[in-house]
Amino acid sequence: MKPGLLKSRRSSAGDEEEGSGGSGGLPTATRKEWCWSLGILLKFVAALLILMAGVLIGLAASASLSCYYVEGSGKQGEARRGDGGGGEGGSRCRDDGCGAALSFQRFVQPHPPWGHSMKDEELFWRASMAPRVEEYPYQRVPKVAFLFLTRGPLPFAPLWERFFHGHEGLYSVYVHALPEYRLNVSSSSPFHGRQIPSGDVSWGSITLVDAEKRLLANALLDFSNERFVLASESCVPVFNFPTVYEYLVNSAQSYVESYNIDVPQCAGRYNPRMAPDVLEEQWRKGSEWFEMSRDLAADIVADRKYHAIFRKHCTPSCYPDEHYIPTYLHLRHGARNANRTVTWVDWSRGGPHPARFGKATVTPAFVQAIRNNGTRCAYNGKPTTVCYLFARKFAPSALGPLLNMSTTLLEF
Ligand SMILES: *[C@@H]1O[C@H](CO)[C@@H](O)[C@H](O)[C@H]1NC(C)=O
Ligand SMILES: *[C@@H]1O[C@H](CO)[C@@H](O)[C@H](O)[C@H]1NC(C)=O
Ligand SMILES: *[C@@H]1O[C@H](CO)[C@@H](O)[C@H](O)[C@H]1NC(C)=O
Ligand SMILES: *[C@@H]1O[C@H](CO)[C@@H](O)[C@H](O)[C@H]1NC(C)=O
Repeated sequence: MKPGLLKSRRSSAGDEEEGSGGSGGLPTATRKEWCWSLGILLKFVAALLILMAGVLIGLAASASLSCYYVEGSGKQGEARRGDGGGGEGGSRCRDDGCGAALSFQRFVQPHPPWGHSMKDEELFWRASMAPRVEEYPYQRVPKVAFLFLTRGPLPFAPLWERFFHGHEGLYSVYVHALPEYRLNVSSSSPFHGRQIPSGDVSWGSITLVDAEKRLLANALLDFSNERFVLASESCVPVFNFPTVYEYLVNSAQSYVESYNIDVPQCAGRYNPRMAPDVLEEQWRKGSEWFEMSRDLAADIVADRKYHAIFRKHCTPSCYPDEHYIPTYLHLRHGARNANRTVTWVDWSRGGPHPARFGKATVTPAFVQAIRNNGTRCAYNGKPTTVCYLFARKFAPSALGPLLNMSTTLLEF
C-alpha cells in the first residue's frame, strides 16, 4: 500500500508541478529543482502517513468503544431480566465476544475469583468510590454482604449454607482467612471461591482492623451490596434469611455497638495523644462484630487519618478493633448509628472472653431466648423484640443441635 500511495501522490504532485511550471513558461525543471520538490513531496507523504495512522488508531478505538456500549446495554437488559428471576448475575459476562473490553456488568459486579491483584492501598482507593448519580442505570437489587473473618475453618458453614439456600442474588459472601489457609468446600457451597486476598492478622492489633477494611473493600466493589455484616467462625444466624434481609435492607440505621463508660476497659484506654483529633469525650467502645450500610462502609474504607492515629496511639491494652470503628462513626455519622449490635453474645460471666456455647447448652429454649427474651430495642424508631439476628460464640459441637432445630425453630 505504501509504495503505491507514494507513487500516486508523487505523480499527482508532479502533474501539479508541471502545470505550475507550464504557467511560469519554463519548459524544463533543473535537476536541483527536481530534488527540492521531491524533498517537499516526501515530507508531505510522511505527514499524510502519520495522519492515516492516526485515523486508523481512532477507528480501532471507536470500534472497541462501541463494543463496550453494545455490551453494556446488552448486559443491562439481561440483568433486568435475570434479577426478576432471582438474579444470578455476573457469570453471563464471561461469554461475551468483547474480550478484555470494559463491561458495565463487570464494573458494577466484579466476578470472582478476585479479578484484582490490588494492594490494600489501591483496593481501598478503588472501593471508596461512590456514584454521584442517585439512581442506578440498571435494576439494582440490594444485597447483604456477609463478611467472614476467620483464622481457618468455618465449622458452621453447613448451617449458613442452609440459611442462604434459595436466596441467591440477595446476598454475597466474602471470607478473610489467614493467607496460607485454603477453604475446602464443595463447588455448590455459597462459600466456594469466596476467599479474598488476605493478610496476616494478629488479634488485638490494628491488623485486625485492616482485615475488616479488606473485607469491606472487596464487598464494596460489588455495587449491589448494600448492607455489610461482619461474622466470625463462631457466629450463627438465629433468624431465617428473609427476616434478616428485610430487617437490614429496610433499616435506616447501622448496627455498630458504641458506648463510653468510665471504667479502665473503656474510657481508661483513651490516649490523650489522640487529641485534638479524638477528644476524651469522643472516645467510644463497641463489639467488633458490626453491621453497617454501604455509605458508612465506604467512608470507613476511605479513612486514613484516624486509622493512622489509632495505629500509633491505640496499642495494648488498647485494642483498635474495639474502638476504631465505634469512635470513627461517632465522630462522622453518630446519628446514623443505632449504637447497638445485632450479634448476641454473653458477657455475663465476666472476664476477658465471652461465654462459649457447646452441644450441652444449645437447646431450642436457649436459642429462643436469644431470638426474643422479652427485652425491647428500637428499630427505625419503634420498639421491637427482635434485637439480635446473629449470635456468638458457639463451639463446633453446637452444629448438630443447631442443624436439628434449623427447620423447626429457625425456619430455614
Ligand atoms: C476437601 O474436602 C474433601 C471432602 O471433605 C476431601 O475429600 C478432600 O481431601 C479435601 N481436600 C483438601 C485439600 O483438604
Ligand atoms: C447513637 O449515638 C449517637 C452519638 O454518637 C447519637 O447521635 C445517636 O442519636 C445515637 N443513636 C440512637 C439510636 O440512640
Ligand atoms: C435478655 O438479653 C439481654 C442481652 O443479652 C440481657 O441484657 C437481658 O438481661 C436479658 N433479659 C432477660 C429477661 O433475660
Ligand atoms: C437431633 O434430633 C434427633 C431427634 O429429635 C435426636 O435423636 C438427635 O440426637 C439430635 N441430634 C443432635 C446432634 O442433637
